[in-house]
Amino acid sequence: MGLFPVGIGLRIVSVLISWLLMMESVSVSGLGANWGTQASHPLPPDTVVTMLRENRFQKVKLFDADYDSLRALGKSGIEVMVGIPNDMLLSIATSLKAAEKWVSKNVSTHINTNHVNIRYVAVGNEPFLKTYNGSFLRTTFPALQNIQSALIKAGLGNQVKVTVPLNADVYESSTGFPSGGDFRADIHDFLLAIVKFLSDNGAPFTVNIYPFISLYIDPNFPVEYAFFDGNASPINDGGTNYYNMFDANHDTLVWALQKNGFGNLPIIVGEIGWPTDGDRNANLAYAQRFNQGFMSHISGGKGTPMRPGPIDAYMFSLIDEDAKSIDPGNFERHWGIFFYDGSPKYPLNLGTTNSGALIPARNVKYQEKKWCVMRPNAKLEDPQVAPSVSYACSLADCTRLGYGTSCGNLDARGNVSYAFNSYYQRNNQLDQACKFPNLSMVTKTDPTVGSCIFEIMIEPYYGGAERRPGSIQRTLGLAAASFLFLSTIL
Ligand SMILES: *[C@@H]1O[C@H](CO)[C@@H](O)[C@H](O)[C@H]1NC(C)=O
Ligand SMILES: *[C@@H]1O[C@H](CO)[C@@H](O)[C@H](O)[C@H]1NC(C)=O
Ligand SMILES: *[C@@H]1O[C@H](CO)[C@@H](O)[C@H](O)[C@H]1NC(C)=O
Ligand SMILES: *[C@@H]1O[C@H](CO)[C@@H](O)[C@H](O)[C@H]1NC(C)=O
Repeated sequence: MGLFPVGIGLRIVSVLISWLLMMESVSVSGLGANWGTQASHPLPPDTVVTMLRENRFQKVKLFDADYDSLRALGKSGIEVMVGIPNDMLLSIATSLKAAEKWVSKNVSTHINTNHVNIRYVAVGNEPFLKTYNGSFLRTTFPALQNIQSALIKAGLGNQVKVTVPLNADVYESSTGFPSGGDFRADIHDFLLAIVKFLSDNGAPFTVNIYPFISLYIDPNFPVEYAFFDGNASPINDGGTNYYNMFDANHDTLVWALQKNGFGNLPIIVGEIGWPTDGDRNANLAYAQRFNQGFMSHISGGKGTPMRPGPIDAYMFSLIDEDAKSIDPGNFERHWGIFFYDGSPKYPLNLGTTNSGALIPARNVKYQEKKWCVMRPNAKLEDPQVAPSVSYACSLADCTRLGYGTSCGNLDARGNVSYAFNSYYQRNNQLDQACKFPNLSMVTKTDPTVGSCIFEIMIEPYYGGAERRPGSIQRTLGLAAASFLFLSTIL
């Protein structure tokens, strides 16, 4: 009789111990992924969460607090960073009530009701980026303070930490070496206030580091230095050799923090990755080399010269997003380690699965195998061609055309077909979306040539049971508006 309760008791204790061990290891390291949803045809959230679990990502970073994404993450155990978009900073900065509402709706409810393991709130996303001209300079810190107060009031002060994901352009080195690191002069005091606040509240500094961008903006950037193969001639910083840009950039931040009295502040690498299309340096080979190199670089837990130990990082990103702004460049829609449909782009061993291979999304439903192309008898000289192509490209996605891209070798007719097809698929193969005046036709013959894939979209996701019909409304709305345009302007 006595044995039974003891057995149960022991089991509970051992479950508790393994749970504690799991929590311990999760909070110290484990691989993270950025899950953005700016896609015309996003995968259903449940499909994405299954992908995250099967690929053993232990952490995920979101850019907002999308209800369906969070609901799908419920009970998954995956550690979640929810985000507050920059355009909400002003209202949250100026109203504690607004901050409390945000925390109640977008954090407390999900923790308490949906059992989502929310651990961080990202206040803003790269709000101090130079291109924002200081638009969020005065609102970021007050918003951070209000969210922190709201978390404490909600009883979540220990469980959920605040942070501000910043671009690595918030610090610089006066000497060109990591040891010359300090915060950018024009925002030095704003940053220092934030850093002190993070430190006081046991919160981490989050930084996004992009060797690809360095290569993109500076043609003289030494290519080898972007990667982790150790082939670059090292930079010798007072006896410490730096063989790759990641380490040097990361340690410039460590020096900047140290110089300002916060040398022990934890650092999260909020985004790191390499795009696969849309630029001559954005391709599968470079992306694989960078991401695999990074995984190997951090896998031993040796860290960087200034910060030995495990590195807490979120890959950028999980899945391509074909509706992102291309202001930064055409590569912006191609950061995923998975294509839009959840298929892996290249072999990548995250060190998490038994097979060492990425596991694709399951049960993906595609639309019909049909494409919109330029009619064989249509003439390139037809005056309608140019406006039709620029119209299609402005509303769909032509970022895979151009020098050094996957469709860069198409001939002029191929270019036109690519644009037409992109528009047609974006609009869910509606007949009217392949009615470019006397120029286009639907075909069942796949126009794909070599590396240039003429994509077929997945079935639109209609949104969760709770609310919000998702992308379909956006997509159909776009289609309806554009036919009007096609028939009147062209
Ligand atoms: C919760 O987050 C969503 C998504 O970012 C946002 O649209 C909504 O306004 C937030 N709710 C509150 C009460 O602030
Ligand atoms: C920043 O300033 C530049 C030049 O004055 C302007 O072109 C750009 O639109 C501004 N960006 C924002 C986000 O305000
Ligand atoms: C359509 O294209 C064909 C072949 O180029 C041409 O003969 C015909 O006149 C065009 N029709 C219109 C309405 O432009
Ligand atoms: C195809 O389109 C791309 C992007 O607009 C352009 O750079 C390229 O020159 C075009 N190719 C031809 C053969 O017209």
